[in-house]
Order: sequence, then C-alpha cells, then structure tokens
Amino acid sequence: MREYYPLLVIGGTIGLFTAIFILAYAMIKDKKEAIGFERNMKDSEIFKRLLRYAKPYAGRFVIAFLIMLVSIVYYIVSPLIVGGIGDLIKDKFELPQLFTLVAFYAISLAVSLLCTYFQTMILQKAGQRIISNLRRDTFRHIESLSHSQLHAIPTGKLVTRVTNDTNAVSFLFTNILINLIKNVIMILGVVVAMLLVNYELSLMVMCFMPFIFLFTLIFRKFSRRAFRRVKDCTTDMNTFLSENLSGMKIIHIFNREQRKQEEFEKRNKALGKAKWSQIFVFSIFRPVIYMLYISSVLALFYLAGRGYIKETSFLGQTVGVGTLVTFYMYISTFFNPIQNLAEMFNWLQSALASSEKIFTILDVVPEVQDLDGAIEAENIRGEIEFRNVWFAYEEENWVLKDVSFKIDAGQTVALVGATGSGKTTILSLLCRNYDIQKGEILLDGVNITRYTIASLRRCFGQMLQDVFLFSGTVRSNIVLRREDVTDDEINEACRYVNADVLISRLDNGLDEEVRERGNNFSTGERQLLSFARTVLQRPKVMILDEATANIDTETERLIQDSLSKMMNIGTMLIVAHRLSTVKSADRIIVMSGGRKIEEGTHEELLAAGGKYHDLYTLQAMKENMENGK
Ligand SMILES: Nc1ncnc2c1ncn2[C@@H]1O[C@H](COP(=O)(O)OP(=O)(O)OP(=O)(O)O)[C@@H](O)[C@H]1O
Ligand SMILES: [Mg+2]
Repeated sequence: MREYYPLLVIGGTIGLFTAIFILAYAMIKDKKEAIGFERNMKDSEIFKRLLRYAKPYAGRFVIAFLIMLVSIVYYIVSPLIVGGIGDLIKDKFELPQLFTLVAFYAISLAVSLLCTYFQTMILQKAGQRIISNLRRDTFRHIESLSHSQLHAIPTGKLVTRVTNDTNAVSFLFTNILINLIKNVIMILGVVVAMLLVNYELSLMVMCFMPFIFLFTLIFRKFSRRAFRRVKDCTTDMNTFLSENLSGMKIIHIFNREQRKQEEFEKRNKALGKAKWSQIFVFSIFRPVIYMLYISSVLALFYLAGRGYIKETSFLGQTVGVGTLVTFYMYISTFFNPIQNLAEMFNWLQSALASSEKIFTILDVVPEVQDLDGAIEAENIRGEIEFRNVWFAYEEENWVLKDVSFKIDAGQTVALVGATGSGKTTILSLLCRNYDIQKGEILLDGVNITRYTIASLRRCFGQMLQDVFLFSGTVRSNIVLRREDVTDDEINEACRYVNADVLISRLDNGLDEEVRERGNNFSTGERQLLSFARTVLQRPKVMILDEATANIDTETERLIQDSLSKMMNIGTMLIVAHRLSTVKSADRIIVMSGGRKIEEGTHEELLAAGGKYHDLYTLQAMKENMENGK
C-alpha cells in the first residue's frame, strides 16, 4: 500500500484544487445584462459572413492547412526518435545508428520550423488583406449613413469598430482558426501515438483529462467575463477620448481640466482593473494546468520507473527507457495544445463578438438612399422649389412647418431669421443630408429624391457655417472633389474669390500645411478657402451658411466682394447674417420658428414694416454704433 502514497499525494493535491475551483465557479454571478456583450447573431451566421470575406483567399488557407499538417508530424515523430535514442544508448550501440536517429530528429525539427514560418507568412498575408477589405467596407458604409444616423453613434465607437474590432477579426484568420484545428489534430495524434506505444501509461495520462477539461471550463467562464470587461472599457475610453480631444479648446476655456482629468482617471482605472483581472485569470490558469502537467510527469516517472526496476508489467506491457522518454515528451506535447485550446476559445469568442459589432454597423440600412431607377442630375439649370415642406429631426418635433418658396435659376435668395429658426436645416435638406417627412423639394421641377444622391450633391456647392478643413495642404483642401485640376485653375479660382491675397501671405503658398480641422487658419480665412473650393467645382447651385463669428474688416471686405462675384455664377441660397449680403440678394425669405413669415425684396420688406423691418433697423443701429466707436 505504501508504494502508492506518492500517487495519493498527487491525487489529493489535484482534488483540493478541484474543490476550490468548483466553489469559485458556483459563486460567480452571471451578470449578462450588466456587461452588454451577449450576442444576437448566431455563431454560424457570423462565420458565414466572415467566410464571404475569406473566400477569395480560400486557396491560401488550404495551402496553409496542408503545411500545418506537415509541421505536426514533428510533434508526433520526435518523441519516438528520442525514445529510440534512449533505448539505443542503454545498451552497446553503433555510432552510425545514433547519428541516423539524431539526423532524423534534426531534419524533422527543421521541416517543422520551416512549415510554421511559411504557414504564418501565408496566413498573415491573407488575414491582412481580408481585414483591409473589411475595414474598407466598414468605412464606406459609415460614409453612406445619413447625418442623423451618424449623430446617433459616438465617433469613438466607430473608431473602435474600424481599428480594434477589425484587428480582433484579423487574429481570427491568422491565428485562431488554424491553431484550433492544429491543436485538436495534435491532441488526437498524440493520444493515438501514446496508445500505440504503451496503453498502460496512456491510461494513466488519460486520468488527468477530466481535470483538464473541468479546469478549462471554469477558466473559460472567468476569462470571458474578463475579456468582455476589457472590451467595453476600451470602447468607453475611445469614445471619451475622441469627444474630449476634439473639445479640448472648450475644456481649456471653461477650466474643466480638473474635472475631465477625474473623468478620464475613472475610465483609466476601470480599464486598468479590467486588464488586471484578465491577467489574473490567466495567471491562475496557466500554473494550474502546469501543476497538472507536473503531476502527470511525476506519476509517469513513478509508475514507469517502478515498472522498469521491478520488471513488473501491467495489462501485459513492460516499460523500457525509450518508452519513458517518449512518454515524457508526449505528455508535454499533450498539455500544451490543451492549454492553447482553452485560450484560443477565448480569442475566438472575442473575435466573434468583434465581428458581430462590425456587422451590426454594416447592417444599419442607410436612411437616405437612391431610389430604384434614380436618374443622374445632368445639365441642371438650378431652379429650386420647396412645396409645403414639413421636417423634423426627431419624430413630430417639427423644425420646418409647411415651408414653400421658389427660386428661379440664377437668382440669389437670402434666408434670414432668428437663431434656431431652421435656416441651416433648409440648406441641408436640399442636398439630402436628411429626407423630409411631408411635402416636396424640387430641383428643375423634379423631386430631388428621384436623382442619384451623388449626382445631386455634385450640383451643389456647399459652404457651411463652420468650414471644415481636412489635415493636408491648402491645395488638397481646395481640390477636394476634383483631382484633375491644374495649379492655374486653382489660382484662378482663388483670385476670383479673393483668396489669392491670403495664399500669397502663406510661406508655402498652396503647399502650406493644414492641421487637423484647419485649426491653424482663422474663421475668415477658412471661409475664403471654402469659397475657392466651391467655385472650383463649378456647381449649378451655391449654398452658403454665412459665418457668424467676428471677422476682421479687411477679410470681411474680401468676403463681401467675392460673394457679390459668386452671385453671378448661378443660383445662390445664402443664410445671411450681414446686412450687406442681405441687401444684395434678389429676394429675401424671413424665417421664424420653422415657418416662412415674409418674402420679398429688401425694399418691399422694409416698406411692409414687418419682422424684417425690425431686424433690419436693429442691425443697422448696431452697425452704426460699431462704426461710430
Ligand atoms: N441634428 C439635429 N438634431 C436635432 N435637432 C436639430 C439638429 N440640428 C438642428 N436641430 C434643431 O432644429 C432647429 C433649427 O436648427 P437650424 O440649425 O436649422 O437653425 P438656424 O436657423 O440655422 O440657426 P442659426 O442661425 O443659429 O444657425 C433648432 O431648434 C435645433 O435645435
Ligand atoms: Mg444655422
């Protein structure tokens, strides 16, 4: 009986760990809803969609799979070779025999290493291509969403989808899938090989299997929680960063640094904690599996050693030195893939979750879409009509109420009215940034929804309230839509809108660097650049949301001058804040609370003595005061 004490000690230790883990497993609460990570799509559906991306690279995957099979041979064969060496050196042996075995070993190792290298290279290449396609599709899809759909998703979340989540999916193709298959084949291969060599010792190793599975199961539960938490915290952090980095100016102005630091710290700590719990779970799992491994090695040494010394046999099998060495190697080949499998399942879960998040974005149906049989907007004259237009950003909260007006081709119309009266909204409806709920908007007598969106937007030159410049150069920001323009054309456009004065002041002219959002240019300068950008496109209709910010008198004069020139190009719809702009318009539409309340020329409206008259006299007084100052 005493002989079996060592085995009892091993069994007892494993039993103790099992009890602790089962207890921990029973105590952990399932906080599904709190984590918000449960998936709605079926795994099979996600796989099907992922496979569509992988299909063009199917050949490469097959080659990688075959190479992988070759690389596995080493793991099965090498213990046999080393066992053979063990048996050989036990007795008197011929040196060439040893050399042959060593050479075999070296060759199989070299082949396996080479195979692993090629397999990795092939898969990485395919994986990167798949992911770049997925990223491209996601970005394109995001571009096709309407403004209101985009407002509904935080930018940070979109960034996470295009970067982190696509990376997780790439890992699926480059690592997870192939390793899952590889590990399963390796385990099966090793089990078969062990049984063939010595089924007595194989049975001993099998005794450890239930514990491995049990621990793996428990580990999976803990690690899934940890993974989810890390993901959610990362998205939260990205969302916070993208919003606050773009709003940093306001944070400085309102001295909110301390407060924002605290908010950041909270997220930082949460992410740190989540990461830590992930590391903690792995730090427990790996040693525990290692403990099982060590236990099985000890049991092997004990049983095999005993069997060898006493020359006893169990189930009719004897143990030699070679068998001992072979089994020692098989056991480590057996435990490694099991540990990998458990970890791979986690990565798989994480990759599937990421895929679902990406597909959820891809599944958002763009609100504003081309109708079936939409026509190209060609040879447009630029006649615009609003017919009883009703529009709400959010249900029934009407921002435009029964607005009707008509602008003849070539006319300039100014929209005036109090802040929030719906002027900017009218402009964005024209280009179908949003679709209206009731009424009709016509361009050249045709409902704008009947044109393709791309061709419709080409008809309009939009100059918005706060001009957005992209990082790049002045040139790249001016040519934006057309890429086939010469510097002469650019210079001509700049001269036309008086932006040439500004550009001649820049050290590098058209090549001057524009930083993110154009924050190294003033509001007036940005407005002038947006004029140049618009004129260069030669649009049929120009729409301008005049900047309300203060602009120095010199720039203001330049802007006014270029505005009056642009009025001759085509139809123009201006949201005007300056009297000089309003006065030079052919017609003025006065908005209030989402309704059109007055319409006419400057003189007509002044004579009518209504809202426009009040607005005009008030602003004239203000301007007189400013000039008198
Ligand atoms: N994206 C949006 N989602 C929801 N409501 C919005 C959105 N944009 C504007 N609104 C609301 O629509 C109304 C009209 O806004 P709009 O921007 O058209 O005003 P505006 O006349 O251009 O004002 P301003 O002179 O200040 O530029 C406002 O009450 C505003 O709160
Ligand atoms: Mg506005």
